[in-house]
Amino acid sequence: MARYSLLNEDTGEKVELPSVSGTLGPVGLDVGKVYGNSGVFTYDPGFSSTCSTQSAITYIDGDAGVLLYRGYPVDQLAKHCSFIEVAYLILNGELPTADQLEAFDQSIRRHTMINENLKSFFGGFRYDAHPMAMLTGVVGSLSAFYHDTTNNKDPKHREIFAHRMIAKIPTIAAAAYKRYAGQPFMYPQNHLDYSSNFLNMMFSVPAEPYHVNPVAAKALDVLFILHADHEQNASTSTVRMAGSTGTNPYAAMASGIAALWGPAHGGANEAVLKMLGEIGDVKNVQGFMDKVKDKNSGVRLMGFGHRVYKNFDPRATIIRDECHKVLKALNVDDPKLELAMKLEEIALSDDYFKERKLYPNVDFYSGIIYSALGFPVNMFTPMFAVARTVGWVAHWSEMIAEPGMRIARPRQVYVGADARDVQPLASRGA
Ligand code: CMC
Repeated sequence: MARYSLLNEDTGEKVELPSVSGTLGPVGLDVGKVYGNSGVFTYDPGFSSTCSTQSAITYIDGDAGVLLYRGYPVDQLAKHCSFIEVAYLILNGELPTADQLEAFDQSIRRHTMINENLKSFFGGFRYDAHPMAMLTGVVGSLSAFYHDTTNNKDPKHREIFAHRMIAKIPTIAAAAYKRYAGQPFMYPQNHLDYSSNFLNMMFSVPAEPYHVNPVAAKALDVLFILHADHEQNASTSTVRMAGSTGTNPYAAMASGIAALWGPAHGGANEAVLKMLGEIGDVKNVQGFMDKVKDKNSGVRLMGFGHRVYKNFDPRATIIRDECHKVLKALNVDDPKLELAMKLEEIALSDDYFKERKLYPNVDFYSGIIYSALGFPVNMFTPMFAVARTVGWVAHWSEMIAEPGMRIARPRQVYVGADARDVQPLASRGA
């Protein structure tokens, strides 16, 4: 295997950099002792080349457009498995047997209710609060409800936390929507599967019967699978970083939800639909693309580009196909789909996007499906949060279980004022 070192060209001094090899993908160079051995830091704002951890959960090959959960290609999982099966896989490392799946599914179903007192928190939000704001606050407040199982080092406690979180997040997301919509909260119905239960809590009302459309439930399940994990993305890294301090795990989840909200991350699905609304018509597409390519405009083609995928995002390909299927099955004729396809067509043949290797990402088409299923735009990012909770929980558990876990504490290159003395107030500014 190749050996690496850091060479000081002036002094000839060399620091060996041990390699860390994974199952797949490039080796990582261990720079942990560089400062101690040579007095310099390594510098990588945005973490373009920096691994923060070893992980056995998800593998991405961004150049080949590959995404594996525990070794399984995401397209196979989306085709053959339910979201709950995939959640089990991501948490436990193996696909479940029929008995294991039954036990896991039952446990998740038994944890779907939220404490009645938690419900009153929603009433404290302004009538127009964004559901992501409510999600961040209410998930953080779970830490005030569960003191009993927060011995992070106990695997049983971690399992109870994982099941609770995965079971309750749809209930909380639906409650945030109901608060926003001014409708009564709907309790979970545990005879329903995970996605059907969520649809029921979102769209049913006490005044009349509601039947979950199986096409909608299946589509949602697939979307949840595609969003379930994505290795060390910004929100997962945030959960890991917060969790590395030993904080209450529900508080760590809230930090992940906050990080997901931004338009460069999970907030992009909402931004895509807003962008399509602003473009309005296919005839305006070219003018919009000219703005995107003009660096001074500050306009980006939302739902395009990815830090890791430099070929295509495999999730986007599946979602685009799903989008066509769902719209057809639900008999929805959404002009935004035509608009999105036109944007994609122009972008894929344009040098600006080709040179920068910008392709549609997971968020480009997902909003069109969510719209067809009846979700308002401000619920798109909470949907992402529901699915990604599985990944956050799995990464948190993986990290906490590591015997040598250390607090995450990056360094910096300081560019502020040089050391100086405080002057008495009267002599300042003279
Ligand atoms: N539209 C126009 N230009 C873009 C875009 C875009 N969507 N994305 C990147 N670029 C350009 C960027 O201006 C830069 O050009 P130049 O080299 O001339 O300065 C070049 O491409 C590289 O961009 P970058 O910002 O350095 O890339 P990054 O890896 O730091 O950012 C990204 C990745 C996803 C934040 C970015 O592509 C973006 O803002 N995309 C739109 C938002 C979006 O769809 N986010 C969802 C990501 S996937 C789901 C998730 O992770 O949650």
